[in-house]
Amino acid sequence: MLVFVPPHPLIKHWVSVLRNEQTPCPVFKNAMAELGRLLMYEASRDWLPTIAGEIQSPMGVASVEFVDPREPVAIVPILRAGLALAEHASSILPATKMYHLGVSRNEDTLQPTVYLNKLPDKFPEGSRVFVVDPMLATGGTIVAAIDLVKERGVDNSQIKVICAVAAPPALTKLSEKFPRLHVYAGILDPTVNEKGFIIPGLGDAGDRSFG
Ligand code: PRP
Repeated sequence: MLVFVPPHPLIKHWVSVLRNEQTPCPVFKNAMAELGRLLMYEASRDWLPTIAGEIQSPMGVASVEFVDPREPVAIVPILRAGLALAEHASSILPATKMYHLGVSRNEDTLQPTVYLNKLPDKFPEGSRVFVVDPMLATGGTIVAAIDLVKERGVDNSQIKVICAVAAPPALTKLSEKFPRLHVYAGILDPTVNEKGFIIPGLGDAGDRSFG
């Protein structure tokens, strides 16, 4: 499994805004959306097929390349907090479809429950899928989400995870289950506490995004 933390000053900046307990809710949500935009930009490098051709510009004929609209790209935000991280997906990635997954984690057992599943019965052939969730803590939520995507016909080499913060328990689980997965993270943190919170992390990303 590849875990990539893009070394970009803007990514460091938005992670720092998210970390700050003083950051108010609307600023937090905006920072999450900006971080998501940058991570999806990095993750789509060399991953989106293009079609080449020629086009008439006002000054002459130019060789051009467009992202191939026939190659399906899907965004799967995990509610709630994934909605903020995926907010700019459709403006940065041409011709995407969004399929929502609602997953909540039991506060005592830390086990995930899927309460909303808008995934298609089968993803279109050749789909590339971004699964978007800010926090990879114990890993239960992201593993459940990827299992559901895989059941619908997508190989894990065609899935990229976009997250703000990832912690060792989640990364270990993911690498054991999905060795060909790619994870793009804003930052890696060292610890998950007994309540399932990443330390130092950013707190409860869902509550901080939506109040
Ligand atoms: C949080 C977070 C992840 C999950 C991570 O969601 O946004 O989805 O927990 O935990 P895990 O890796 O231990 O499974 P939460 O259940 O709090 O829902 P919310 O986004 O609606 O707040």
